[in-house]
Amino acid sequence: MARYQQLCPIIYGEGTISLLGEEVKKLGCTRVMMVSGKTMVKSETYAKCKQSLLDAGMEIVEFNEVIPDPPDYIINKGGEIARKEGIDGIVAVGGGSPMDAAKAINILINNPPPINQYFGNPNYKPGVPVVMVVTTAGTGSESTNVAVVTDTINDVKNSVIGVASLGILDPETTVTVPPETTAYTAMDAFAHAAESITAKEQNPKSELLASDAIRRIVKYLPIAMEDGNNMEARGNLLIASNFAGIAFNDALVHLGHAIAHSIGAKFHITHGAVCALAIPEVMKYAAEISPDKVKIVGESMGLSFEGNETDKEIGEKVASAIREFIKSINIKSLKELGISKEELIDIAPMIFDDPCYNFVPRELTKDEVVDILVNMYENYN
Ligand SMILES: [Fe+2]
Repeated sequence: MARYQQLCPIIYGEGTISLLGEEVKKLGCTRVMMVSGKTMVKSETYAKCKQSLLDAGMEIVEFNEVIPDPPDYIINKGGEIARKEGIDGIVAVGGGSPMDAAKAINILINNPPPINQYFGNPNYKPGVPVVMVVTTAGTGSESTNVAVVTDTINDVKNSVIGVASLGILDPETTVTVPPETTAYTAMDAFAHAAESITAKEQNPKSELLASDAIRRIVKYLPIAMEDGNNMEARGNLLIASNFAGIAFNDALVHLGHAIAHSIGAKFHITHGAVCALAIPEVMKYAAEISPDKVKIVGESMGLSFEGNETDKEIGEKVASAIREFIKSINIKSLKELGISKEELIDIAPMIFDDPCYNFVPRELTKDEVVDILVNMYENYN
């Protein structure tokens, strides 16, 4: 059986943030809350969004307190302001954190706080329209039905269920993203795509969109890093991120993200960087289960296969192509990041506890997980 869905409508193209106000008006909103972070609020993109909303006659309430990995207390505060101010729409401006915060705050508009009682719980009254102005190409959060929120009571990341009403992908908003962040966010999308293709819950739509996302990332990421103003490259990365988001919303990510969350939580390394480091070894593991799908990942990267490769050879070939690619975009190794092999091995039990581990295509033993971590460490220097 395969199951896939259509979620958030998208407007794509240079200059499309100027349409924001009119689009929000079409959704029936008159008084919206802009959700963003303290750096974003100073940006030209934010100013343009605000102007477009004002031009369309919107009243605006600003909530600029979102921080990375938004914690529950920020969501609760945003929800309280939203209720008190009587808003009828939300506009998120930013990357994954403001987008996730917006989806979570929306739950608290017509439901009692705190947000923690809605972790994994879809039983709540719907909120107001939520529009995402996407300013980094990576999470694809505009097109997923979850919002990650940090549970500060239990000190873990958890998630609530919620979708956006509209996403605006304007490449002009991403030109100021520095090369390093461009690489990290794109590799997060790459991992979403590669894990979707090799997932337990594979489906044809996810495979199609994820393969296309990989093709675009491999072609356009180096260009966008070299020339941040290259609109064609920036636009293609936004599309790749969106397609990978749609793909993994249905197919779900698995071992790569379980590893990335665990290493990220322990050593505080940027999510996309750990995704990039994990994915070569994850492809080797996936090749034991569905080599044909790993081949699709490789072919999307531009590799060709003779047809007589063993499953192991397919895994190795795709893994080394990914390593070569991430080397070319300057992803630092775990050693360069100051982590010792012993420290890395110690996080193995965390991987089994990560929610994404529930979606692995085949269960692993502790020794297998340790081997994967050791290979991550030794095979990429
Ligand atoms: Fe991710």
